[in-house]
Amino acid sequence: MVLLVVMVALLSLRGAESRKLGQISESFEYSAISCRAHTASITDFGGVGDGQTSNTKAFRDAINQLSRYSSDGGSQLFVPAGKWLTGSFNLTSHFTLYLHKDAVLLATQSQDLNEWPVIKPLPSYGRGRDAAGGRYTSLIFGTNLTDVIITGDNGTIDGQGALWWQKFHQGKLKYTRPYLIEIMYSSGLQISSLTLLNSPSWNVHPVYSSDILVQGITIIAPVRSPNTDGINPG
Ligand SMILES: *[C@@H]1O[C@H](CO)[C@@H](O)[C@H](O)[C@H]1NC(C)=O
Ligand SMILES: *[C@@H]1O[C@H](CO)[C@@H](O)[C@H](O)[C@H]1NC(C)=O
Ligand SMILES: *[C@@H]1O[C@H](CO)[C@@H](O)[C@H](O)[C@H]1NC(C)=O
Repeated sequence: MVLLVVMVALLSLRGAESRKLGQISESFEYSAISCRAHTASITDFGGVGDGQTSNTKAFRDAINQLSRYSSDGGSQLFVPAGKWLTGSFNLTSHFTLYLHKDAVLLATQSQDLNEWPVIKPLPSYGRGRDAAGGRYTSLIFGTNLTDVIITGDNGTIDGQGALWWQKFHQGKLKYTRPYLIEIMYSSGLQISSLTLLNSPSWNVHPVYSSDILVQGITIIAPVRSPNTDGINPG
């Protein structure tokens, strides 16, 4: 901040154009420091990072418990190194999901409706994109939230999309495919320092939301995979 103030002062002295000041603010980096009063690890909720055990319940329980702190300094859920198989789970307000650099969230291959609850189409679409009816909830989903950070030391979220892509090509989808991250009706979001791999469909979908920072994301999927758009604000 001191350096920024000095630079701004120097540029003002030289009568710099506002365009130059603009360039300075563009290079300003806001990293997701831990600013939460409470922190827990997914292992505290019975999570097992062996790539085989389902952690859907662990994530849902963890965030459900941590949501109690949203008006008491907020909370962070830490995901250590390992492969954490999971279905869809919902976020809460004043909350950080932090992935260790060797943590991989593995989206379950099961297409069970308990793992992927179906929600209504987006009001502005009126129908699902892949099928007329509902939509599978995104792997990481949030609605009506404020102050949410999804970040890590370049940890990975792997959508294991191949089965979904196959069903899409075969016209066998009953509902619209899930995204990796979807946040609706929310504000104050940061999604940063992550690798997103093989999403079933779009990767990051903030919709009807504002005040959003998406930064330092690596998105990887085969060129021919259907609709694996990167960041689709709606
Ligand atoms: C997540 O939130 C949506 C929308 O409120 C809800 O329909 C769904 O049941 C929630 N999922 C879980 C696992 O609580
Ligand atoms: C979320 O916000 C939208 C838009 O303000 C509102 O229509 C909806 O009822 C809210 N949902 C919940 C679960 O509060
Ligand atoms: C994060 O990991 C991805 C995949 O391994 C890699 O391509 C990317 O360069 C990494 N990003 C950073 C900032 O290290």
